Amino acid sequence: MRSLRLTRPDDWHLHLRDGTALAALLPFTARQFARAIVMPNLRPPVTTTAQARAYRERILATLPAGLRFEPLMTLYLTDRTSPAEIDTARASGVVHGVKYYPAGATTNSESGVTDIARVDAVLAHMAAVGMVLQVHGEVTDPAVDVFDREAVFIERVLAPLIERHPRLKVVFEHITTREAVRFVLGARAGIAATVTPQHLLMNRNALFTGGIRPHHYCLPVLKADLHRLSLLDAVASGTPRLFLGTDSAPHARHTKEAACGCAGIFSAHGALELYAEAFEEAGALSHLEAFAAFHGADFYGLPRNSGQVTLVRESWDVPAHYPFGEDELVPLRAGERIAWRMAP
Ligand code: DOR
Ligand code: ZN
Repeated sequence: MRSLRLTRPDDWHLHLRDGTALAALLPFTARQFARAIVMPNLRPPVTTTAQARAYRERILATLPAGLRFEPLMTLYLTDRTSPAEIDTARASGVVHGVKYYPAGATTNSESGVTDIARVDAVLAHMAAVGMVLQVHGEVTDPAVDVFDREAVFIERVLAPLIERHPRLKVVFEHITTREAVRFVLGARAGIAATVTPQHLLMNRNALFTGGIRPHHYCLPVLKADLHRLSLLDAVASGTPRLFLGTDSAPHARHTKEAACGCAGIFSAHGALELYAEAFEEAGALSHLEAFAAFHGADFYGLPRNSGQVTLVRESWDVPAHYPFGEDELVPLRAGERIAWRMAP
């Protein structure tokens, strides 16, 4: 039986939600990851450092005894975010990035940025003080095909943005296309990207296998296989510009199995194991540790973790659903198998 021993990893893009959902979710992530960048798209969104501190306290208060986990907080950028708030965030030591959602691009993005020009002064200030910008990179223009929204965003928004702010550190979150891979690998220093397990393991056919599959719907949406292969190649190269960010984004079963289902795939129950499958497919298991545990920490200027985890090449049955407050949560691979298992 094959096994892999890795430095304890971090999840550089995670949705932990709040309240009873948070309580149901946190053990999955804390079992695998030492830290996670916690997305701020709650209702209402986490727009101030005071709200981020309070959310962090709620997360820590929810952590089951015996588990250690550090939430790395983020602020939700709006048209009204002030440079002073960035200073407060920077000084807090608990806020590690500011998330830019184009208004209307995805779940709970209604309060996002309506026009990037409106936040230009804040971005300049973030560059000056070294605050990381995390970008949901899709245009919201309804005239643009949903599969092209990331590539068009690079041209229309991201490339000009990083040129206007040459010192701004940017994480292009959950990249899904060949265009994004090329852009990130060819960009100036200070540009990186996260890659999800679903975009490494599935292409857009997974949305329609035998019928419509709402649990495979996330944003950015799954793409054609040539894009998946481009992502796999890129992570297999070992480039430090790419790191683990699950974008694990739970929604109650009835809100996904609906006439207008929510975007988001829950993967925290088997995140590292799913990445191991992808890296194994790419013949690149030797690069998994750096992707999962080194590149993100180095980019964010945080120490690497010291503990270790063990992955065993032994498959397990994923439950059909997990409890989720009063609801049910259908995880990625529900009722199927994952080929790797994390040793307890
Ligand atoms: O699929 C997604 N779900 N993409 C996002 O950008 C947000 C996330 C969520 O919060 O559910
Ligand atoms: Zn996300």
